[in-house]
Amino acid sequence: MTPLPGLPKRVTVYEVGPRDGLQNESGLIPVEVKAEFVRQLLAAGHCAVETTSFVSPTWVPQLADAAELLAALGPAPEGVRMPVLVPNGKGLERALAAGVREIAVFGSATETFAQKNLNRSVAESLEMFRPVVDRARGAGVAVRGYLSMCFGDPWEGAVDPHVVAGHARTLIDMGVTELSLGDTIGVATPGQVVALLEALGQQGVSVGQLAVHFHDTYGQALANTLIALQHGITVVDASAGGLGGCPYAKSATGNLATEDLLWQLHGLGIETGVDLEALTRTSVWMAGHLGRPSPSRAVQALAKEITS
Ligand code: HMG
Ligand code: MG
Repeated sequence: MTPLPGLPKRVTVYEVGPRDGLQNESGLIPVEVKAEFVRQLLAAGHCAVETTSFVSPTWVPQLADAAELLAALGPAPEGVRMPVLVPNGKGLERALAAGVREIAVFGSATETFAQKNLNRSVAESLEMFRPVVDRARGAGVAVRGYLSMCFGDPWEGAVDPHVVAGHARTLIDMGVTELSLGDTIGVATPGQVVALLEALGQQGVSVGQLAVHFHDTYGQALANTLIALQHGITVVDASAGGLGGCPYAKSATGNLATEDLLWQLHGLGIETGVDLEALTRTSVWMAGHLGRPSPSRAVQALAKEITS
């Protein structure tokens, strides 16, 4: 372990495997397997696990069992975040009925993706979220926000960081307390991350209000994470085993693998509270259920050590 100056002592790893990972699977995954996945992630030491989505089951049939999953899991343990995605009033009602204590609304920085993912414009989707955020906050439910396509969009190309920062401001003014910057299709490079954080700073959005959410399509997720940490970010989204993608964004592949992230963070002496070996065992187990090996380099390397 060799630290570098200018990095946080502790990072919150926000695990999105059960939601971002499993929303994209073509085969049906039994609810008991999903529940066991979440239990194993918690047992590995995760303190933030995004569990599922209360979206339209027609749009995302993979997560149609959200209520059943939460019933099987029971309430989040004390001090543990188990947020769920919620786009609208119907989703919020379902989430509240399931006893959820944190939701995440998910907007887009680009018009094309807003239409494809939410069936409305950027402005219309932000207006759809406003009553959801109000009602959730009123009920004592925490609200995270996402912005997708923060760096590049498969239909529109490069994305202006000042446009992203404007939408970020709107979501934070609405009452979102943690905003995750999504590189949905994994195209960003480190200079873009810095440019976006600077544009956000000009809008009065501080790094303490932000998280980063990198997909790893072009192998840039760890480089982008490191530069974000050097600029003060302390919450990093990642997916066990590198599962993931978005059914409504062509070319979105898996998220930054949590194991790859932990290898880097622990190597830098940054605390996460997550046990890398336990997590690797979980990803190997999950890969067995999905019928294909994990794309995570750390899982591939460590799995050999663990099983030999
Ligand atoms: P719409 O078709 O405009 O919705 O979709 P609607 O309000 O017209 O309703 C249509 C039907 O769906 C109605 O049923 C509603 O009741 C039902 P019908 O009357 O026809 O029988 N419905 C619902 N049912 C259950 N739960 C709900 C719900 N809402 C409506 N919440 C909508 C609009 C937002 C619902 C739809 O576009 C949708 O569900 N989109 C979600 C897409 C999604 O989940 N994408 C993946 C997550 S985002 C992501 O992965 C990116 C991220 O990881 C960050 C990054 O990487 O950048 C977060
Ligand atoms: Mg994502």
